Amino acid sequence: MKEVLVIGNGGREHSIGWKMRGEGTNVLTAPGNAGTAAIGRNIEIDPEDVTRIAEFAQKLNPYLTIVGQEGPLEKGIVNEFSERGLPIFGPTQEAAQIETSKIFADSLLKKYGIPAPESEGFTDLSLARQYIENYNKPCVVKADGLTGGKGVEVCDTKEEALSALDKIIGKYGPKVVIQERLYGQEASVLAIVGKTELNEPALLPLLPAEDYKQLYDKDKGPNTGGLGGVCPHWDVVSREELREVSQKILIPTIKALAAEGKPYTGILYAGFMKTKDGFKVLEFNCRGGDPETQVILPLLKTPLLPVLMAAIKGNLDKIEQLKWSNKTCVGVVLASEGYPGKSVTDREIFGVPNRIELEKGILVFQAGTKSKDGKLVTSGGRVLIVDSIAENKEVARQKAYSKLASLEEVKKGEIPDGKIGFLNGHYRTDIARRNG
Ligand code: AMP
Ligand code: GLY
Repeated sequence: MKEVLVIGNGGREHSIGWKMRGEGTNVLTAPGNAGTAAIGRNIEIDPEDVTRIAEFAQKLNPYLTIVGQEGPLEKGIVNEFSERGLPIFGPTQEAAQIETSKIFADSLLKKYGIPAPESEGFTDLSLARQYIENYNKPCVVKADGLTGGKGVEVCDTKEEALSALDKIIGKYGPKVVIQERLYGQEASVLAIVGKTELNEPALLPLLPAEDYKQLYDKDKGPNTGGLGGVCPHWDVVSREELREVSQKILIPTIKALAAEGKPYTGILYAGFMKTKDGFKVLEFNCRGGDPETQVILPLLKTPLLPVLMAAIKGNLDKIEQLKWSNKTCVGVVLASEGYPGKSVTDREIFGVPNRIELEKGILVFQAGTKSKDGKLVTSGGRVLIVDSIAENKEVARQKAYSKLASLEEVKKGEIPDGKIGFLNGHYRTDIARRNG
């Protein structure tokens, strides 16, 4: 039986592992969580230690390694595996800069004229401050490097922007990007990127998804890694617009990376805003979104492993169109007390069986979970996602929420039988209801 090694420990990696198991593939996950341990075997290696993980892979020789999270990509896991001739799906350290350095992404978009907000990168605090002083529109201050989705401050006024600058520099260092603030609806488009036989860049877009990034309902509060998702997101990106976004943004971006000597393989994730002047890129990520991946994969009918192999082998253009369910998937994330700040861990989680499919059309993917003394306990910020797949968004939404204990119940730590929850867990109550 084929075996894959999935790199990461989140809900995204659990959903990738679930898809692979469903295709009859054995799954190893490094380092994984309690959920991934139940569908295969967890490997206790820090995947950012790319030499150790490559040595391990060399011994086990998995059919393919799939990198879920960005940290190991930034550390060069793909470079290390490729030098050893080990098959791996993900971008090299150089190509991953599209996410790991917002200054790099910003200058690439500018150089190749790819639609994006007005934007300027800085490595010097006084120049950044001066820029904000002279900037007469609302702006967004972004840390240059990886911050788990927490290094972005969207500001209304100059005063707010100046204090956001101090906060971001204090936390993440002196490199920042300052962007014009755009207004509009957002969407995430992920694409499988690889090459053709002639070594040309090629891509297959997945269904558009919607992410709920802010902590509180009605998009209030600080940014998080993402607290819920919906797929497909045709309300904002129609089928026609998906083609347009591919032609005008995704394809030019992978061509630009190739032209810069950084050819891209892996998932390319573009976060867009639909403005009155068309779609503009707010950010790129060099891997699948979390929670977007968990709401996209349950709708994908085509086996994923052959597509990923085609991307790395150079025949992505030979893959026929991906086949999708025509249902809607809604996912609600249950997070720990304290998240997105320091999370309280070791809380016992109730109502999660040792399987992913709770019942037909309901999936639970685990993230910050571990087993302790025979119990399932929390071990991170985002703990799990409850997915519901149904004929429409409203039905899916109701079914997903019906599995969670109420916010009053989690506050008291009194989780009724048949409901999912843990003491002081929290979730947004408006997932799949952004517009009404
Ligand atoms: P990012 O990590 O760059 O995608 O930013 C996180 C979130 O901040 C986005 O999903 C938007 O909600 C918001 N954001 C980022 N850039 C902008 C911008 N230029 N204008 C308005 N909102 C933004
Ligand atoms: N959900 C946003 C991200 O994965 O970065």
